[in-house]
Amino acid sequence: MLSWDEFDKDEGEEAAKGATATQAAAAGIDKLDNAGGVAALEARAVTADDSDAVKRAKAALDKLDIAEGLAELEGSAARVAVDEKRMINCRADLNQLVPFKYDWAWQKYLDGCANHWMPQEVNMTADIALWKSQEGLTDDERRIVMRNLGFFSTADSLVANNLALAVYRLITNPECRQYILRQAFEEAIHTHAYQYCIESLGMDEGEIFNMYHEIPSVAKKAAWGLSYTRAISDPEFNTGTVETDKELLRNLIAYYCVLEGIFFYCGFTQILSMGRRNKMTGVAEQFQYILRDESMHLNFGIDVINQIKIENPHLWDAEMKEEASQMILQGTQLEIEYARDTMPRGVLGMNAAMMEDYLKFIANRRLSQIGLKEEYPGTTNPFPWMSEIMDLKKEKNFFETRVIEYQTGGALSWD
Ligand SMILES: [Fe+2]
Ligand SMILES: [Fe+2]
Repeated sequence: MLSWDEFDKDEGEEAAKGATATQAAAAGIDKLDNAGGVAALEARAVTADDSDAVKRAKAALDKLDIAEGLAELEGSAARVAVDEKRMINCRADLNQLVPFKYDWAWQKYLDGCANHWMPQEVNMTADIALWKSQEGLTDDERRIVMRNLGFFSTADSLVANNLALAVYRLITNPECRQYILRQAFEEAIHTHAYQYCIESLGMDEGEIFNMYHEIPSVAKKAAWGLSYTRAISDPEFNTGTVETDKELLRNLIAYYCVLEGIFFYCGFTQILSMGRRNKMTGVAEQFQYILRDESMHLNFGIDVINQIKIENPHLWDAEMKEEASQMILQGTQLEIEYARDTMPRGVLGMNAAMMEDYLKFIANRRLSQIGLKEEYPGTTNPFPWMSEIMDLKKEKNFFETRVIEYQTGGALSWD
């Protein structure tokens, strides 16, 4: 890494020298600017070597109006000041990343990049042998693997589409958009990971990828999520009124708090529990990497929602709070039904009743994270080992201790 320390040693004399040097450099750069401008114009001149096609291209560029092109960009064309930046309905230029207003968004972007991984880095050999052997897994365990690959293989596409086709356009802040682009790529990696598992295990791809149409407990979760993306993914949709701003807020709560914050948790717990029992360790390792990414997505979404509330307190009225609370309770209910469907009887040291407690515990967290009242008093976490894998309170420590491992492509351990 570069260090600027040596340039700051002798402040008095060195600073004076520095100022003179800066002025001289500015004059030098002005001169270069002029020379560069002239040279660029000369390059446009038609020469004897130019073909007709090249001549036409140069002539077309003669008509290019810079002012017209820039006017089409989002936001005003002035240099951006921090206090002009806003999460939604911002009028400042969205192509100027700095100065940052939301340092947490940039930090999450950096953390996401530092934790990059690819599905092919995970060894699937033991999983293939276990999946193909007759007595390796019980019917209940096989069904859990298939149901979860069925749900997740399409759920992450729903999230990615919602980000790329709706949320990205409507969040008017460049550092958050930078994170959303990173998140969208991570969703692509997750879909890739599920596809990689399905292919490695030689499963019927049509059956797995169609579960969100064919299996009711999977279909209900997908349909619930899709109902919140319909309005805002219309290219004509825009925020700017109380009703449309609330529509965006509903979408963010549906996707970040419920889809990524509740709908993933039964499946993650089941597959990770399998890994802890030394079964399907490759699939479980893929899920553990995914869970780590998802915990970051969730925390980013919570920060965005809370920031919108701070900047637009009129949106967070009694009606909206009631609606948000209902959405989280509906999502919890659907996930409880999914737990029942995937675990009609005890398996992997857990059962649907324990999962129900866990989901209520998670739902309380989601409610309180966006400032709402907890609706399931007295629930405790029956799976404390899940918190060890992904302790939301210690998000920073969690990443700090594992960054090096991931950057070198090392394997996760199950201790
Ligand atoms: Fe994902
Ligand atoms: Fe996600």
